[in-house]
Amino acid sequence: MTLWYSCQVMCGIFGYIGPRDPVPIIMGGLRSLEYRGYDSAGIAIIEGQNLQIRRASGKLKKLEDLIAKQPVTGQFGLGHTRWATHGRPTEENAHPHRDCKGRIVVAHNGIIENYLSLKRKLISDGHTFRTETDTEVIAHLIEQHFDGNLEQAVLKALSELKGLFAFTAVSADDPQKIVAVREGAPIIVGSADGEGFVASDVPAVLPYTRSILFLDEHEVAVVARDGIRLFDSAGKPLKPQFQHISWDPVMAEKGGYKHFMLKEIYEQPTAISNTVLGRFSLDTNKVHLEDVAFTEDQWKSFRHIRILACGTSWHSALAGKYMIESIARLPVEVDYASEYRYRNPVILPYTLFIFITQSGETADTVAAQRQVRDSGSKILTITNVVGSMTTRVADAVLYTRAGPEIGVASTKAFTTQLACLYLIAIHLSKLHGTLSDAQVRKALTDLVELPHKLEKILENAKHIEEVSKFLFRHHDFLFLARGIHFPIALEGALKLKELSYIHAEGYPAGEMKHGPNALIDEDLPVVFLGAYDPESPESHQRYEKVLNNIKEVKSRDGIIISVGNENEPDLIESSDHFIPLSPTNEYLLPILEVLPLQLLAYHCAVRRGCDIDQPRNLAKSVTVE
Ligand code: AGP
Repeated sequence: MTLWYSCQVMCGIFGYIGPRDPVPIIMGGLRSLEYRGYDSAGIAIIEGQNLQIRRASGKLKKLEDLIAKQPVTGQFGLGHTRWATHGRPTEENAHPHRDCKGRIVVAHNGIIENYLSLKRKLISDGHTFRTETDTEVIAHLIEQHFDGNLEQAVLKALSELKGLFAFTAVSADDPQKIVAVREGAPIIVGSADGEGFVASDVPAVLPYTRSILFLDEHEVAVVARDGIRLFDSAGKPLKPQFQHISWDPVMAEKGGYKHFMLKEIYEQPTAISNTVLGRFSLDTNKVHLEDVAFTEDQWKSFRHIRILACGTSWHSALAGKYMIESIARLPVEVDYASEYRYRNPVILPYTLFIFITQSGETADTVAAQRQVRDSGSKILTITNVVGSMTTRVADAVLYTRAGPEIGVASTKAFTTQLACLYLIAIHLSKLHGTLSDAQVRKALTDLVELPHKLEKILENAKHIEEVSKFLFRHHDFLFLARGIHFPIALEGALKLKELSYIHAEGYPAGEMKHGPNALIDEDLPVVFLGAYDPESPESHQRYEKVLNNIKEVKSRDGIIISVGNENEPDLIESSDHFIPLSPTNEYLLPILEVLPLQLLAYHCAVRRGCDIDQPRNLAKSVTVE
């Protein structure tokens, strides 16, 4: 039998209860969650004791068209947008899924690991299954335990389910409530006057409320018009702790941009300003990380640093290694969170673990974090999402304050992570006395000037779009750099891959002669990161080496695209396409030079007709391992 996991990586769940027509609200919520999954969608609406479902395969538009043809109204309900890895994205497999009588429905995100054994038992107890998804088992299990009270039935069902998941359930026989469960995958509850919302992430409910309850592991919420009740998995009542979210709802909309990703690229000057706001002062000549729950003695006690992350966040981790080692002179190791658990790492005493995760929910990252927590080491997490799982497993949190990032390709989360790492490096340098006061002042002044330099790159976006015209038809790209710029080469290649489906590799420029030079021909665009700090002889030396690498590629007919200091005649002359920037110090240059690479990937993808905000086969955060 084929096991069709209903929603392995991530899906979007949205529920509404209140005085308004639930259908447009749920559809709006799903629209904002569509980035989480976009291969099928469905809604379930309860009117009186009547439960109706509409489901469609394909993007949300298909469901909208179906609802236009077969309207549905009611008092409350829930919806789901799906991202499946196993099984076809058919209407039959789309959520919500029903029990035998169609009186209980469930929308689910994650995996039910013991689905097969539960299904066998339920079938022998007389239940009839319509789909091959794991989700349907939840609906039947709730039905099995249901005696008029939905939350009691959910709690009993929960005790039999194994896996990492979140789900919502409604019943036509216990109406006026939505039950939400968190068991490893994210789910939040929003509360407003006489209204309740359930969603997979915060931006989905921001148009209605900023009062948010982040469900913790093994918690069950009952959302009704007159309020929210919270229980642990044993049914013990808990006091809901609502948090006020300062994100503006319009921050989670496209705001006139064609794509979320483009909007998020353009938000970077403001995002960086927000990240560093109040976290340093030129008056005190210090970084102030008072919002990070470590004492000065704790900060001072760290002798080693280990940074763990996945994907783009791993690239910022790698750049962070260069920053912290050079600026604060502490040894730093960087690991893929997804790999960390599959070896037996040696952890030295006084090691600070830093986890970096935009979403705060990446399963591999959180699992590695739990393993580290069990070893007793101190954990700092850098994340963008208030209340996310990573914040609960950490000793201290440094928020990136980038605002909601909706585009699947990470942009402003990345540059704000880099800004956080820069602050940490300077903070540690001050504690360990590795920089002089004058050097700290210069490093902080450079930070003040950074948003303006980012603006200047964005003003030149048209030129980057022009460059993309010459490149978007190529099948392979190389991104080359040295030193702290190497992680940015990796990031440039990842952006191009995920957005435009062009094969691209990031490589240390000095390694080319050890093999990859064989790839170079007149069909190969090679992107070089050649910016340098004019006040640093070491940085200039690195630039000269990059210039040599450019000449090596040029002499083999490769197509040279370079990002470098404005008015740099040698670089301009050696390049087929040159993208200028106003330089800054070596450790802030990555934040500048990644912008042209984001724009290049964006425009190549637009020209190739790719889905910018929802690239194929991907999801915004990967909430199973
Ligand atoms: C990058 O554009 C991707 N979206 C992906 O590599 C992402 O950075 C990775 O999945 C980690 O996500 P996180 O930062 O939310 O943990």
